[in-house]
Amino acid sequence: MEMAQTWTPNSWRQKPIQQVPDYPDLLALEAVEGRLAKFPPLVFAGEARRLKSALANVAEGRGFLLQGGDCAESFAEHGADTIRDFFRAFLQMAVVLTFGAQQPVVKVGRIAGQFAKPRSSGVEKQGDVTLPSYRGDIINGIEFTEQARIPNPERQIMAYRQSAATLNLLRAFAMGGYANLENVHQWMLGFVKDSPQAERYRKLADRISETMDFMKAIGITSENHPSLRETDFFTSHEALLLGYEQALTRVDSTSGDWYATSGHMIWIGDRTRQPDHAHIEYCRGIKNPLGLKCGPSLTADGLLELIDLLNPANEAGRLTLICRFGHDKVAEHLPRLIRAVEREGKKVVWSCDPMHGNTITLNNYKTRPFERILSEVESFFQIHRAEGSHPGGIHIEMTGNDVTECTGGARALSGDDLADRYHTHCDPRLNADQALELAFLLAERMKGGRDEKKMVVNG
Ligand code: TRP
Ligand code: MN
Repeated sequence: MEMAQTWTPNSWRQKPIQQVPDYPDLLALEAVEGRLAKFPPLVFAGEARRLKSALANVAEGRGFLLQGGDCAESFAEHGADTIRDFFRAFLQMAVVLTFGAQQPVVKVGRIAGQFAKPRSSGVEKQGDVTLPSYRGDIINGIEFTEQARIPNPERQIMAYRQSAATLNLLRAFAMGGYANLENVHQWMLGFVKDSPQAERYRKLADRISETMDFMKAIGITSENHPSLRETDFFTSHEALLLGYEQALTRVDSTSGDWYATSGHMIWIGDRTRQPDHAHIEYCRGIKNPLGLKCGPSLTADGLLELIDLLNPANEAGRLTLICRFGHDKVAEHLPRLIRAVEREGKKVVWSCDPMHGNTITLNNYKTRPFERILSEVESFFQIHRAEGSHPGGIHIEMTGNDVTECTGGARALSGDDLADRYHTHCDPRLNADQALELAFLLAERMKGGRDEKKMVVNG
């Protein structure tokens, strides 16, 4: 197959493209892109390389990827408390997974850049009124008014600034002491304290504290071992709005390679993964770790073609396949993809997105039953065990707040509870409690895999 070989940060503009906002003022758009192109990068190439090498370990079966955050970040909810509550819930999950699975956990937020949303329809109808769909705060406003729904390029500047501020606080939390394992009990403050998961978490935190006390007694402290008090936290988002991505695409002076500097990892959505279209063209030329969403319509050959385009050198850590089939479809689709990838010896991280294939409408709310989410995760693990491949990660939509967006979980949220605190700008998220419950289940499954492997070795 003959591909256009020369890649440039704007070569995607020559390709067909899906999901493009209809900006009324193209000169204003160009002006904004020009300003963004002069702004400082949000992340460094060296950090993206570090993430890639952590993901390479996951691809080789040593480690687990935890990726999660809002479906869509919003301008309205930008604040220190939201970021802290998210980070705290995320750390709790990470610690449960690290301790339970006894594997390093690669921590990647869907945050500090997750603003653009693909939509199944270009328009939204309410009563007799039809308006352009909401496409995320980086593009237009969520209010159902004509004015709000007009794509406004200035929003890209706001998204950039919010990403910078969010990333700044996350870096402070990750490196400045908040993530210190000595604080493992404090991460539970807030509403999770009296949740059904609290007792379980407290027990685990007690064991970690005890271990830390022992290590302190023998001279290993968080002062002399920074890895006890710091954690590598990375950012990611869907690379949907390519004009914005292009403006933040920069050459790394050490390697001469191009990097997306809007986040450490970016992914390609299930709706924009046509091999000869713009999104694949943009992503193939940058060196960041990439995610590829894999839904039921992806064939094994289609996947292999995309792998060759996105990762021609078969570099471990470059590509994460984020599978989102649905609890009732995963058994039909995942095995054929795993077999094709294994047969061709392609190095990938297999991650499970148990959210996007399990969305239903209940009482006029988009929701996701927690049992279906767990069921897809269970099947994901079982299938990988059966195929002999590594279940390498999870990709979830979650928040640190006490929202009521997904039904079920230990608090047994019902369809009637959804109205209480349904705040999402797009898809329903797990609340902190449900996220923690999921982490415990994951840890058990990962431990199960470890014990099985041991038995094989010993037997
Ligand atoms: N640095 C290690 C890691 O990130 C240990 C660690 C420090 C950690 N703080 C953490 C692990 C918080 C999980 C959560 O894995
Ligand atoms: Mn979503």
